[in-house]
Amino acid sequence: MTKFKLNGESRTYDGDGDMPLLWYLRDEAGLTGTKFGCGVGQCGACTVHVGGEAVRSCLTFMEDLEGEEVTTIEGLSETGDHPLQQAWADHDVPQCGYCQSGQIMQAATLLRDNPNPSDQDIVDHMNGNLCRCGTYQRIRKAIKSATE
Ligand code: FES
Repeated sequence: MTKFKLNGESRTYDGDGDMPLLWYLRDEAGLTGTKFGCGVGQCGACTVHVGGEAVRSCLTFMEDLEGEEVTTIEGLSETGDHPLQQAWADHDVPQCGYCQSGQIMQAATLLRDNPNPSDQDIVDHMNGNLCRCGTYQRIRKAIKSATE
């Protein structure tokens, strides 16, 4: 049995310990803002926070969540107005939108740890989150604007 918190709420899980967190979020918790892209840690679409760190939920297993705090895009802010979410809207970042919750969750840890990142800091931090529509320029602009 694994006890953890999901977006501030206590949860208990007693299924297969080796089930990826991504499956739990989408199929059991109904939190479909976290996306399945590659399933093997290569794309970043499934990025959430565990213990405040950006992780790939497709490679994070339920048995490793004991005592952890998990935050998804649904829990990033209570009213959907995190500075990054506002910046994403202001800059009209998404094209198809599929990767964008993962992009925002990845970016959120950068802003928390480095409120004034350089352009290179942003590129380096976001490097592993892929976007097949190629919205990278708008993503970088939105992150920059969220720091201003
Ligand atoms: Fe997890 Fe691609 S779905 S990294």
